[in-house]
Amino acid sequence: MMHFTSSTRNVPTTSAVPRHVAIIMDGNGRWAKSHSLPRFAGHHRGVETVRATVKRCLECGIEYLTLFAFSSENWRRPQEEVRLLMQLFIRALKQEVKKLDRNGVRLRVVGELSRFEPELQALIHASEQQTAGNTRLVLTIAANYGGRWDILQAVRRMLISDPEKGGGWDESDLAPHLAMSYAPEPDLFIRTGGEQRISNFLLWQLAYSELYFTEVLWPEFDALAFEAALASYRLRERRFGRTSEQLSTAPLPTVSPTDTRLDA
Ligand code: IPE
Ligand code: IPE
Ligand code: MG
Repeated sequence: MMHFTSSTRNVPTTSAVPRHVAIIMDGNGRWAKSHSLPRFAGHHRGVETVRATVKRCLECGIEYLTLFAFSSENWRRPQEEVRLLMQLFIRALKQEVKKLDRNGVRLRVVGELSRFEPELQALIHASEQQTAGNTRLVLTIAANYGGRWDILQAVRRMLISDPEKGGGWDESDLAPHLAMSYAPEPDLFIRTGGEQRISNFLLWQLAYSELYFTEVLWPEFDALAFEAALASYRLRERRFGRTSEQLSTAPLPTVSPTDTRLDA
């Protein structure tokens, strides 16, 4: 059984290369517009960036890559765009899973999947099954995902897990029920496309993530742009509440007395 550190209950060990990178892939529509193309062409191009980003993660030894593909609020878009996005998702799954599998990538999809049409749900399930034995990189696609939905469904499941308990719940009771309990919290959060907001992505898990915003639009987020984000991450001082002086002096106990490690 794997154990992950909760950034608020004890200090995680960190390294120069983030273990977990979470990305809001934004700017497809604006990229298309700037090339006088329909919005959909931007999404289409975006899939190529996904492919290249997965490759980069494999090369750098990043263990978890989480991509926000469709938010619980994206249903508000024009019906036709939603339809095309679903179609693209289906096509990308069909085309890419074999290659992901060959490269040791485990695919996982998080979000309220019951809202998707049965064909897509079945495809997601089959893709997850097919890659379930892989350990080199865990690629998570957040689809119909919302951070508030995640916290709420986790609370519900936590309460059902021990109906007798009544009270006294803490973080370590909740965390195992979050959609991404199998992964450590993101070390690095990236948002392309210039907006500086979280847009209901991983609200709980981003508590101590390093945030990186870039103007680069997702279809143009290439190896160089990714490296710039990783370079920025390397310069961050991750204090988790401590002072800078504490970090530079004697090694501190990395586990606090209240440590309750989370089971994943
Ligand atoms: C992000 O690109 C992709 C999805 C939300 C599916 P956008 O479609 O939001 O692109 P912009 O923000 O309109 O440029
Ligand atoms: C966030 O992008 C969601 C995804 C990238 C899937 P949006 O473009 O939908 O975000 P807002 O609505 O501008 O905040
Ligand atoms: Mg957008």
